[in-house]
Amino acid sequence: LVIVLDFGGQYNQLVARRVRECSVYCEIYSYKTGLEKIKGMNPKGIILTGGPSSCYEEDSARYPRELFELGIPVLGLCYGAQLMMHELGGKVERAAVREYGKTEVLIDRADSKVFRGVQEKTVCWMSHFDYISQTAPGFEVTAHTADCPVAAAEDESRKLYAIQFHPEVLHTAEGTKMINNFVKHVCGCGGNWKMDTFVENSIREIRAKVGKGKVLCALSGGVDSSVAAVMLSKAIGSQLTCVFVDHGLLRKNEGDEVEAVFGPEGPYDLNFIRVNAQERFYDRLAGIEEPEEKRKIIGEEFIRVFEEEAKKIGAVDFLVQGTIYPDVVESGLGGESAVIKSHHNVGGLPDYVDFKEIIEPLRDLFKDEVRKAGLEMGIPEKLVFRQPFPGPGLGIRIIGEITAEKVKIVQDADAIYREEMDAAGMKATVGQYFAALTNMRSVGVMGDERTYDYAVALRAVNTIDFMTAEAAEVPYAVLNKVMSRIINEVRGVNRVMYDLTSKPPGTIEFE
Ligand code: XMP
Repeated sequence: LVIVLDFGGQYNQLVARRVRECSVYCEIYSYKTGLEKIKGMNPKGIILTGGPSSCYEEDSARYPRELFELGIPVLGLCYGAQLMMHELGGKVERAAVREYGKTEVLIDRADSKVFRGVQEKTVCWMSHFDYISQTAPGFEVTAHTADCPVAAAEDESRKLYAIQFHPEVLHTAEGTKMINNFVKHVCGCGGNWKMDTFVENSIREIRAKVGKGKVLCALSGGVDSSVAAVMLSKAIGSQLTCVFVDHGLLRKNEGDEVEAVFGPEGPYDLNFIRVNAQERFYDRLAGIEEPEEKRKIIGEEFIRVFEEEAKKIGAVDFLVQGTIYPDVVESGLGGESAVIKSHHNVGGLPDYVDFKEIIEPLRDLFKDEVRKAGLEMGIPEKLVFRQPFPGPGLGIRIIGEITAEKVKIVQDADAIYREEMDAAGMKATVGQYFAALTNMRSVGVMGDERTYDYAVALRAVNTIDFMTAEAAEVPYAVLNKVMSRIINEVRGVNRVMYDLTSKPPGTIEFE
């Protein structure tokens, strides 16, 4: 185990992901976590992240000096590096110029363990106001830049390493190599964190925990709940019941695809219950135009349907949730920076189901690891690499009132768009793309006849964290083909538009 101590830096999760990419298991903890707890976890190494404070200020985020005296290797990044120097007797000051962005770093000590195999001049990502003006006693400078005398320093005998730049950011060309060097060559981690062993161990643990108990899982067809369901089914088979609520706002054929994988014809031995609740949802949504009201109704109705099914099943011992590690961190339980998203699907469920305990088999995994675990267990790629799809589904991709007719239009248009994007190889490069139905109708002409139909909007965005996004540059030829197919194949549409808006000021979805 490597511990990432989070000082509130925006890259905290990236640090942990890079460590995991080296096949080393790590967890993120707030810098407020006590020393005894850290010692108790017996980590092989500790990484201090960046953060917004200045370590020479009164109320800055600190850690007791003893952390550096445990004999456990410590790597400080950016603020973490400054803190290490400050605590151990070095000097940190405000710099005359802020170093920001890609910067050429010159490695002074090629024999440093963390810089093993790194080029003498290497591009790194810098982002700092403060700088280390004097290293602490015992430290030696191992790298510098034109503006920064101490880009890296170390005290090999005490296994303390300070790096001013951000090796976790992809713009640091050899960053992963540096992190790999630290965890393997300094901390001596073997690199045994592999998905196959994780899956195997999890299945064994679930079996031991559940015993002969009954387990209930709400399956949405999304990546997380699918992977969790398969893991459970591998562990306990038919002791598991999966309820899949089809609210009629899924993508084209999606309900059937989920049923094909998880239903009685599929490869898994579980009790799969599909609830076709389309009519119920459409009835409740009739005449409703306001986005938040639609969201609320869909959410409430979903719970009601699930509750009715759960009642039929009766008391269960465990309820499965597809919580993943970023959910844990973002809800403030893992690291320091609590970015709570307003539209999380979690919450609510446990209150109305009669169960004893929650099982969260993916709680420790990042999204890419969840996908790897899914592939490991033989879940079809199509399901594993599914794009994020909002809980309220097409309900928030139809502007204004939702009707069965509009759902059909947007499903058909979206299926064509996805098909053409996939065929053009855009799937791997674009973060999220979909068609939406505007509530604008306009005049057109088709086969000498006047039409008065809807306009479909196409959206494609690139994003790292879904908090900000930019419209993707989809080749004109692809857009043109999609336009012509939608107009020709989807009744009720006579105009197709491409949305160029970034987020902010727009959002990714239309509502
Ligand atoms: P926005 O539209 O807020 O979307 O820029 C950011 C990401 O969140 C998804 N999204 C939702 N997911 N329930 C969800 O489960 C929702 O109500 C919801 N609204 C947006 C959206 O698909 C995108 O990935």
